[in-house]
Amino acid sequence: MAKITSGLGTSHIPLLGYMVDKGESHLEKWAPIFDGYTFTKKWIREQKPDVVILVYNDHATSFDMKVIPTFAIGCGEEYHPADEGYGARPVPVVKGSPILAWHITASLIKQGFDMTIVNEMDVDHGLTVPLSMVFGEVEEWPCQVIPLAVNTVVYPSPTGERCLALGNAIRTAVEQFPEDLNVQVWGTGGMSHQLLGERAGLINQAWDLAFMDDLKSDYKKLAAISQVEYIRESGTEGCEMVMWLIMRGALNHQVNEIHRHYHVPVSNTALGHLIYENTDTMNLEDKP
Ligand code: DHB
Ligand code: FE
Repeated sequence: MAKITSGLGTSHIPLLGYMVDKGESHLEKWAPIFDGYTFTKKWIREQKPDVVILVYNDHATSFDMKVIPTFAIGCGEEYHPADEGYGARPVPVVKGSPILAWHITASLIKQGFDMTIVNEMDVDHGLTVPLSMVFGEVEEWPCQVIPLAVNTVVYPSPTGERCLALGNAIRTAVEQFPEDLNVQVWGTGGMSHQLLGERAGLINQAWDLAFMDDLKSDYKKLAAISQVEYIRESGTEGCEMVMWLIMRGALNHQVNEIHRHYHVPVSNTALGHLIYENTDTMNLEDKP
C-alpha cells in the first residue's frame, strides 16, 4: 500500500532559485537562509520518497486569465521548467507519476473534488524552487513529482476548509493505491508578502509565527481564515499559505514537527519552512 509518511512546508521564493543557479547558494552572506535547509537535505536523503505530491501555485506561467483552474493535478509523464521571462531555470526536467496521479484524480473526483486534469504544462518557480531548496543541485530529481496547482493568484482562491479537506481526500486516495510507495506531500508558498500596490513589502512576522505554531494542532482554526483576512494580515500573496493546509490535511491528526526555519526578509517575503512526520494513525476527519 502507498503511504503518506511526512509533510513539508516551504516558501518558494524565486530569488533563491536564481542564487542556486548562479552557484551562489554556498556564499556566507546567504547562510542564514540556506542553512535552514541543511537538516532537510540530509533528512530527505534518508527518507528517499518515491513520490512527492507538490502543492504549489502557478504564477500566470502555464495558466493565465484565459484559464484559471482552482485545483489542477498533473497526470503527465514530465514537466519542463518554465521560462518566466529570464530563461528557463537550468534544473532537471520534473518526472511525473502518471499512474498514481490518475488513481488520485479518480479517487478525488469520486470524493467530490472536481479536479482539472493537466497532461502538459511547464512548471514555474512555485514548483522548482522548493525542489532546489530540498534536494540541492542534482543531475536528476531523485523522485517522481505530482504537481498539484492551486489558484492563489486571482480572487477567489479556494477556502482553507476546502484545502484541508482536499488534503484529507488525497490521503484516502494514496492509501488505496496498491503499490508500496513512500509518498510525501509538500505545501509551498508564503509566508506573508505583498509584491504590488501601496502595501508592497508588507511582512507580518507575528502572523507567520502564529500560523506555523497553529498548523500542527490548531489547523481547524487556520482553515477558517478567509481570503480577505489573509490579504489584510499577510499581504496579497500571503494567501499562498492555504496550500500548507492541503499538506496538513494529508497527514494524521498527530504529527511531530521535526524541523522549523524562519527568516525575514528574503527578497520581498518572509521565508518559512517546516517538516512534519506522522505519529499516530488517526485520520483528521475521525477527530471530533
Ligand atoms: C516573491 C515571492 C513569491 O512567492 C513569488 O511567487 C514571487 C516573488 C518574492 O519575494 O520576491
Ligand atoms: Fe509565489
